[in-house]
Amino acid sequence: MTSARAHLKQLFLPVEDGMERMQAILREQLVEHSGAVRDMTSHIDRFRGKQLRAALVLLTGEASGNTTDEHATVGAIVEMIHLATLVHDDILDGAEVRRRVACVNQRWDNQVAVLLGDFLYARAFGLSTTLSSRLCSRMLSETTRELCVGEIEQSTRRYDFEMSQERYEMIAGAKTASLYAAACELGARYPGGNEEVGAAMARFGWSLGLAFQIIDDCLDLTASTGELGKTAGTDVEDGKITLPVLYTYTQADEPTRARMRDVFTRPGLENRAVLLRETCDLETGLEVARERARTLVGDCLERLQRLPVSPARAAMEGIVEFVITRRI
Ligand code: IPE
Ligand code: IPE
Ligand code: MG
Ligand code: MG
Repeated sequence: MTSARAHLKQLFLPVEDGMERMQAILREQLVEHSGAVRDMTSHIDRFRGKQLRAALVLLTGEASGNTTDEHATVGAIVEMIHLATLVHDDILDGAEVRRRVACVNQRWDNQVAVLLGDFLYARAFGLSTTLSSRLCSRMLSETTRELCVGEIEQSTRRYDFEMSQERYEMIAGAKTASLYAAACELGARYPGGNEEVGAAMARFGWSLGLAFQIIDDCLDLTASTGELGKTAGTDVEDGKITLPVLYTYTQADEPTRARMRDVFTRPGLENRAVLLRETCDLETGLEVARERARTLVGDCLERLQRLPVSPARAAMEGIVEFVITRRI
């Protein structure tokens, strides 16, 4: 186990039992009669993700004194929706590796990957109808809609170097922060609970998720596929203009801008992320993006101070720190 994974395991200790139940539920949901589907679900089950979102459902529940027997199921539903978005996202990004194994679109093909993503959504929402409260179905269907809007908006803004930081954050928020926000709100108030605490935890989750995506966008430019366990550099390959690039472009002179546009758009180039690093100095842009993520994370830590001191709250502080320092 890598030290980062061992660290996460340690952070999840206050909800260890819940996480084990969550994993068992997740595994049950991947079982399907069809042999073809089973091949695919066992393929994606071979390497676990970090499971941060499920852990946040359980930890916010624990930290706000709202744990129920159903929290593990809510966590599994959130992880299944996340997994479905990854399967679909890898088609959009033409990615090859995910969680250290071949992406479904790579090992099989795009058609099958579309259907497997749909299968996972269907399973997630099917499971949510077995819960005693409709809050989970209601919130997660809304979140899934928002997430799709984020991915669609992002697709239509490819190669848009004139995009504002506000627009970038709106997209990153919709596609990533929305699910973090929902996970934390559900943890804090499922099955109905205190709406005020729920709203405060939703804001915590939103800031955390936005910081998570900003750091992800920095890692896409700076880390290798081997380190990340997923294809690096896809944002440059696909014309996604992320915060570090946006900032660098805004500050650059016209000849540098022209070279940057060329790296993104000239047909037939290979390793565009490497070429981009050679074409312009991304360091300031990366630092500005990391600074924005650090500010968001500062908001998160401040919000946590309002919860009573507990091992779960300390674990959430550890997750906040992880999000900003992570390399996986
Ligand atoms: C990847 O999320 C998708 C983004 C929002 C950037 P994670 O990095 O949490 O993916 P897994 O579940 O750990 O593989
Ligand atoms: C996609 O963002 C986030 C989702 C909602 C799936 P990315 O495209 O940056 O995610 P990765 O880097 O492929 O994991
Ligand atoms: Mg992607
Ligand atoms: Mg990414």
